[in-house]
Amino acid sequence: MTICVTGGAGFIGSNFVLDWLARSDEPVLNVDRLTYAGNLENLKEVDSDPRHVFAKGDIGDFDLLSDLFSRYMPRAIIHLAAESHVDRSIHGPADFIHTNIVGTFRLLEAARAYWAGLAEPEKIAFRFLHVSTDEVYGSLETGDPAFREDNRYEPNSPYSASKAASDHLVRAYHHTYGLPVLTTNCSNNYGPFHFPEKLIPLCIHNALSGRTLPIYGDGQQVRDWLYVKDHCSAIRRVLEAGILGETYNVGGWNEKANLSVVHALCTVLDELKPRADGQSYAAQITFVEDRPGHDRRYAIDATKLERELGWKPVETFDTGIRKTVQWYLDNQAWVNNVTTGTYQRWVGKQYGN
Ligand code: NAD
Ligand code: DAU
Repeated sequence: MTICVTGGAGFIGSNFVLDWLARSDEPVLNVDRLTYAGNLENLKEVDSDPRHVFAKGDIGDFDLLSDLFSRYMPRAIIHLAAESHVDRSIHGPADFIHTNIVGTFRLLEAARAYWAGLAEPEKIAFRFLHVSTDEVYGSLETGDPAFREDNRYEPNSPYSASKAASDHLVRAYHHTYGLPVLTTNCSNNYGPFHFPEKLIPLCIHNALSGRTLPIYGDGQQVRDWLYVKDHCSAIRRVLEAGILGETYNVGGWNEKANLSVVHALCTVLDELKPRADGQSYAAQITFVEDRPGHDRRYAIDATKLERELGWKPVETFDTGIRKTVQWYLDNQAWVNNVTTGTYQRWVGKQYGN
């Protein structure tokens, strides 16, 4: 048996592939277009592992996907490939429509054709697991209850609107064609291989290179943080035991204001790699222009996943952020490699720079 992972060279995808191969003998067919966010260096641990088959390709390429599916016969598709950065979606939404909506549509078409041709036991066992985000639910105010699976969809950015569209397509393929689908909607991840355009890795990278730590607006926007390995375990659990057609919210009950997240990572950096001048890295914090349409608060109610499937996260924010800072300190070569070339041009376009 084989599973197919799309976007397996990205942040969550590469963590998922590495965890999967560390826990199971089942091979992984990894389909990734290797955009700026995809990096085979993330997977060097499984470079010579015959259980990892990498195929460079676009999820919008129906013929390629059909060929790969008929050759490798996956029992499940874990769909992670996406354009994932909200700021980039504000500057240029087209890639988000191309990959997150049209790409997901073509992937669903290829999956449906493949699944329809399977014989009975394989057809019943097949799963299409769509990995999505809490951002589809919109923004909460202080005191509002956390997002549940039955919350209305109110996406506010081009990114979240494109993910909402993909969620709806996945749902429609279940209701219309009977495709055996599962959807997860997860909160903000952090951990190893996180591209340094997102808040936590950007601030660790900027802190160590003596740059400012840009805080959008007043820094009181709240995100609900989950260590990436806990997201991977949730995906595995939903794949194993999720009810077909259901959606599952994934989160670690770790709501934090952005400013306190940046202070927390500065405190760990101060301890593990103190600044030469004895000052705290927090001195580099700088308030900059806000993100347009910035959602104020996200919070996930993960009760359904915890009660029905028995999933629990392992890391607290304190343990997770310490591991993350240590990983970036230990992997400066990775950071240097991904922050050359096009990265520099993008950073120049960020708000306040
Ligand atoms: P990422 O940007 O780090 O990685 C995305 C991967 O998809 C990259 O390897 C990229 O090369 C690949 N890709 C992009 N377009 C492609 C295409 N057209 N065809 C094939 N491959 C393509 O993203 P991530 O943070 O790892 O997120 C993975 C998934 O999880 C996304 O669907 C995202 O919406 C979802 N998600 C992310 C978070 C988070 O906090 N990062 C939280 C909840 C859900
Ligand atoms: O909630 C899940 C989502 O989390 C995922 O679906 C997205 O793929 C992922 O990118 C993430 O989206 P966010 O917009 O929440 O992540 P980001 O790291 O870009 O920003 C986190 C918060 O920090 C947000 O409120 C904006 C703020 N921020 C971000 C950057 C990059 C800053 O204040 N300064 C910054 O430089």
